[in-house]
Amino acid sequence: MKKITINDLMKWKQEGRKFASVTAYDASFAQLFEQQEMPVLLVGDSLGMVLQGREDTLPVTVEEIAYHTRSVRAGSPNALLMADMPFMSYATPEQACENAAKLMRAGANMVKLEGGAWLADTISMLAERAVPVCAHLGLTPQSVNIFGGYKVQGRDIDKADEMVKDAILLKNAGAQIIVLECVPASLAERITKAVEIPVIGIGAGNSTDGQILVMHDMFGISANYMPKFSKNFLAETGDMRAAVTKYIKDVETGEFPGSQHTFE
Ligand code: KIV
Ligand code: NA
Repeated sequence: MKKITINDLMKWKQEGRKFASVTAYDASFAQLFEQQEMPVLLVGDSLGMVLQGREDTLPVTVEEIAYHTRSVRAGSPNALLMADMPFMSYATPEQACENAAKLMRAGANMVKLEGGAWLADTISMLAERAVPVCAHLGLTPQSVNIFGGYKVQGRDIDKADEMVKDAILLKNAGAQIIVLECVPASLAERITKAVEIPVIGIGAGNSTDGQILVMHDMFGISANYMPKFSKNFLAETGDMRAAVTKYIKDVETGEFPGSQHTFE
């Protein structure tokens, strides 16, 4: 696989070509994903749940994300590699810069931050200092204690309008990708059309530019349960490499996610 950059993703969006992405935490899986030509990988703070068995993502530290980012980069030199900024690591723009630098030095090409309008200054500060940013909107798991659980976000019209505004604001602040998690498909479609930058969805229907899954969900091996929006691609293929290829194909053709994986 040739080296994937944000320019490729921008081009794919303009061409209407959909793309897949997946989380990765270690070199062996990262290499397998790159061999199957997975263009985008994320070292997600979901590692707190799927690797560490914690109840939520809040205990994850910058050092842990950096450790896994080094491993994933070693296995996949060419994917566009995003790394999550963990809970409270970007409470101020200055902290965000200091912590983002650790993840960029570990091999990330971009950092991902959860939040809406309040992140605008942080995002411009990072982008101006050469740290590419992905903004994560919708169900932002670091806010689980504010939301009172993992619930679909943006269901009422005021909240939906606010999310569209936030997406545009964060794009204007310098965000180069938006991740939308657990929002109604119609809202994800509005946001995808409202911004020129690629939008990657998870539980956001199939009109976003890209899709992302937690790798353990894609293989059906998550410790606790399978979210509605995920699919076990290993079950129908019986082979890890075939499962990854099937996931990529099904995203590219628009077959995944189907209506059974989507919120209305
Ligand atoms: O941590 C993670 O795995 C994520 C994805 C679900 C987008 O943020
Ligand atoms: Na995350």
